[in-house]
Formats: sequence, C-alpha cells, structure tokens
Amino acid sequence: MCGIIGIVGDEPVADRLIDGLKRMEYRGYDSAGICTISNGRLVRRRAEGKLANLVDVVSQDPAGGNIGIAHTRWATHGAPTTTNAHPHATEHVALVHNGIIENFKPLRKELLDDGRRLESETDSEVVAHLVSREIENGASPQDAVKTVLPRLRGAFALAIAFRDHPDLLIGARLGSPLVVGYGEGETFLGSDALALAPLTQEIAYLEEGDWAVITCDGATIYDSEHVEVDRSISTSGASAASVEKGNYRHYMQKEIFEQPTVVAQTLSSYLRLSDNSIAMPQFDIDLSAVGRITIVACGTSFYAAMVAKYWFEQFARVPVDVDVASEFRYREPVLEEGGLALFISQSGETADTLAALRHCKVNGQIIGAVVNVPTSSMAREADLLLPTHAGPEIGVASTKAFACQLAVLAALAAHLAVKKGRMSREEEQEVVAHLLEAPAALNAALDHDDDIAAMAHLIAPARDVLYLGRGPDFPLALEGALKLKEISYIHAEGYASGEMKHGPIALIDEHVPVIVIAPSGPLFEKTVSNMQEVQARGGKIVLISDAEGLEEAGDGCMATIEMPKVHPLIAPLVYAVPVQLLAYHTACVKGTDVDQPRNLAKSVTVE
Ligand code: G6P
Repeated sequence: MCGIIGIVGDEPVADRLIDGLKRMEYRGYDSAGICTISNGRLVRRRAEGKLANLVDVVSQDPAGGNIGIAHTRWATHGAPTTTNAHPHATEHVALVHNGIIENFKPLRKELLDDGRRLESETDSEVVAHLVSREIENGASPQDAVKTVLPRLRGAFALAIAFRDHPDLLIGARLGSPLVVGYGEGETFLGSDALALAPLTQEIAYLEEGDWAVITCDGATIYDSEHVEVDRSISTSGASAASVEKGNYRHYMQKEIFEQPTVVAQTLSSYLRLSDNSIAMPQFDIDLSAVGRITIVACGTSFYAAMVAKYWFEQFARVPVDVDVASEFRYREPVLEEGGLALFISQSGETADTLAALRHCKVNGQIIGAVVNVPTSSMAREADLLLPTHAGPEIGVASTKAFACQLAVLAALAAHLAVKKGRMSREEEQEVVAHLLEAPAALNAALDHDDDIAAMAHLIAPARDVLYLGRGPDFPLALEGALKLKEISYIHAEGYASGEMKHGPIALIDEHVPVIVIAPSGPLFEKTVSNMQEVQARGGKIVLISDAEGLEEAGDGCMATIEMPKVHPLIAPLVYAVPVQLLAYHTACVKGTDVDQPRNLAKSVTVE
C-alpha cells in the first residue's frame, strides 16, 4: 500500500525515481508523483492513475535535479485524483507518505486555524505543513522532524525533501516499512529492498520509531528518542532481474508457473533428504509443550491457514483456532500462556496481521511467522521464523506464495506431531516422501494450462460463480472464488460442499457455473452427492478431480479438469493450480488488468 523512494545523488534522479516506482507499483497504483529539487526550487510532477500517466507528464515537463522523492499511491483518505497525489508540498517542504495518520483531523484543524491553506483531502498533507511550519519558523530540517514526529499517531513511512537543503532527505518510520540504501556517493530511501534493487544491494532496515538523515555520504540514523544509533547494513538478495516478467504475459502467469521450482526450493530448507526427516530451522523453543495453536492471516494467506488447521489437528492433535487478522484482536481471544501463535503473510508487513502478532506477543504466545520477505517486520519480530522461498511476488493476486506457505505449514505440522510423539519415524518418512512428490505433481497440473485457457470462455460470461469443496478443499474453494473476484471482477463464492444446501443452492440455475474441487478419496462420494444436487437443478458443473474421480462423476459436467493422482497431503498445493489458472485465463478473456486489478494493493499496510 503506497510505495516511496528517495534519492540523494550526484546525477539526475527523475528517471531513477520513476524506475523505482515501477518496481513498487504492486503496492498501489491509484496515482503517482515525484518531486526533485532543482535550481533552488521544488519541482513537483503528479498524475492520477497508473504510473504510465506520470511518465507522460514528466516526459512533457521534465524534472531536473540530483535529489528527489517519489510515491505510488493506494488511496485511503481522499479520491485518487492528482490533487490528492503525493508528494504533498508547501513552498519549503515536499513529502511522501505510506500509512495512515490517524490523528490528522485535529492536526488539520490546527493548521487551518493557523491560517494555512491545505489543498488535498489526504491525511499526509498535514505532515508536510507541520514540518514546513517549523522550517518557516527557523528550525533546521532535523529539528523540524524531531518536533513533528512525536505528534503523529498511526502508521507512517515518510520521505521529506527541503527546498533550502538540496543535499539531504529525511526518512522516518513507524508501523510502515522503510529502508536506507547505500550507493557510491549516493544514498537512497525506499519502502523495500526491491525498489532499490538496481541502485544498490547494501541495505539498512530502519526499526520502529527510527528516522534518518541521508546525504550523498551516507545516513545518520536516530531512534525514537532521537539518540543516534547504528543499524546494520546487510546485502539484500533482491535482484533487479527477479522482478522482470521474462517471456510471460503477466507476473501472475509467471508466478503460477514458478510454483514447482519455488516449492522445491522451499521444501529443500525444511526436509533433510539424507534420512527423509523434517528439518526445521534452528530455534531454542520446545514445541512439544504447545497445547494450542492460533493462526492469524489475511486474504490468500488466511486460506493457507485454514488448510493448515486440518494438518495440525490431524497430525499433532493440537487444537487450532484460525482467524482473519482484522477480526482477531477485537474478539478478545483467549490466549493461554505458552500457546503457539502463527502468522502467515507473503509480505510480512500486512498491518492487521502485524498488529495481531504484537497483541499475541504481549499475551505470552510463542510467535511463529511464515513469511516470504525475510527482512519484513513480522520476520524480525517472530520467535520462530519460517521463511517461504517463493522469491518476489509481484502479481497482486497471490499464487506462488500460497503454495510455499502450504509446503512450510505441512512440514511444521508433521514436525510438531513428531515432537509431541504423535508421529512415528516411519510416518514422518512417508510425509517427507509425499511432500517431495509435490513439485512434479505441480508440473503435471500446469500441463493442463491450454485446456483451462479454452474453458475460461465458459466462465467469462457468468455474473456469479460458485466454488465447492469439502475438508481441505473447502479453503481451496474460498481461494478459487477470491482469485476469480480479484482479477476478473466476477462475483464468486466459495462454500463447503455440504453447506450449499443451506442457502447458495437457491442461486443455482443454468447461468451459474459451479466449480467443484474434489480429488478422489474418502470425501469424494459426499461431494459428488452435493454436485448432483446442483445438476438436478440445471446447474453447470466444472469438476476438478483426478482420472479416477472424473471416470466416476465426470459425465454430465459442463467441463472437467484432470489433475494427477496425488496423496491427500499435497492435494491442496496441486489443486490450487487449476483454480489459479481458471481465474487467470478468465480475466484474460475479459481483458482486465491481471497484475494490477482495480482497487487492490499487494501489500496492505493500513488497518
Ligand atoms: C492483499 C493481497 C492478497 C494477499 C493479502 C495478504 O489483499 O492482494 O493477495 O493475500 O493482502 O497479504 P500478506 O502479504 O499478508 O500475505
């Protein structure tokens, strides 16, 4: 949600700022803007809509200067117009912001009462004015920021440029991520290491409450008490190439096809092949004492949590609560001392999930984080860091991160079962063997891409689509519906197969395709009965199953998608592929913007 970047350099920055925004466009794409300092003036260019519009504006009206800040926006306060686009500026100061200033209303009133003119409806503009007022009263940039930061409540990552100080930028973070990048005679600020990947790999991650003054020579970092601190500089693994589309039409398509590789990559850090055992990262916590697990996540990561509940309960016989993060804290959950709280997040920065993590931390839980960005806030605040190794995920609709989350969670569930004496050595070896079958099975699932593309023409005209699944296939039904909604804008609902008769069956007619996810196995017969209830009412079925399932129940379906025959443990990973591809190809038929669907953002860093 919103990406920010700043450069203090020794050569023109406008193009590089825009290139940085391109790498962060997945964070939001409602509007974009840059502000440089040139010849003693703040030079601001802004445009609503996609970044391409800003590129046009800047090509017609270039912004010179060796220092500047830039922003790509996901709107929270105020419509996505040019006036509301960042940077916000006064005569003296320009500022970009990611996050929400919760107390902006009283601050805005104070500024208006003070006779200042604010032009936007945003919460961010008040910060530009607060800092500017200090500067106008004679404060240095450092003192202005020192005075203003304690007055801000909410979450922010800021980058601020000062007209009369063309040699420095100030960045600050609380609740939203911000990194400092170190180059040769140049220094950078960015929302993440990926944004800075072509500029530098040398990155320092600011801690909560930190602020930093950056110049060509480096950065001076202060903590929330304004005490100068050292933040270690690490070499980021983010490569410029890892955010290219390659030969694929969309990032989402590329990421779907990467799944066999990234799942194998992820499994290789959780499985020891020498003796077919589970090998968790080293940590000093005794999991055998865990008596209850709480899993919290949002969006697709939440559906991974729902699948994992089946595994934890089945393998380790530990009761599991699963919550969406935005609801979790507000239901006053009962958290027994020493319970394990797991947070699942691709970005590791989702505000609701992070807030839930902190709530669990102060309530005595062991904090586990299954995250794809190993330097993210959740990764850094967890007791047990369980990284997925999916690589950067750019498409707004999550795909490969989901598969890798499932791989890690299956390994963790088996590990917990071993620790609790609920899984024998032989059973552990079997689990490892099944997990190792996943990459090949994912490849086999991807082989059906062409068939699924052809089938998308049947789904694209629909106004509503229903997804049904039972057991661990129920969360997949929810995930399938979410994917379709997100990128094709077709209304879709996921339902537990057996629950359909309690309501959604009223929707069934020949215009509502029903996607049934049903691998052959113990639950198959029951799901087929539910499917027949749909058929009896004229409903059109797309059955996703293996050869055995299709042989038994494929007749009379509008279409079928054949999956390889796989062990139930890895079925959720494998069956995610056809639901992803069906949503992807349907969106392509409809001509929507697959990688940047309307109103969404990849990383939601506001509550
Ligand atoms: C946004 C994204 C989803 C993602 C969700 C949770 O809504 O569009 O694709 O599943 O956030 O994100 P996280 O980074 O916490 O997994």
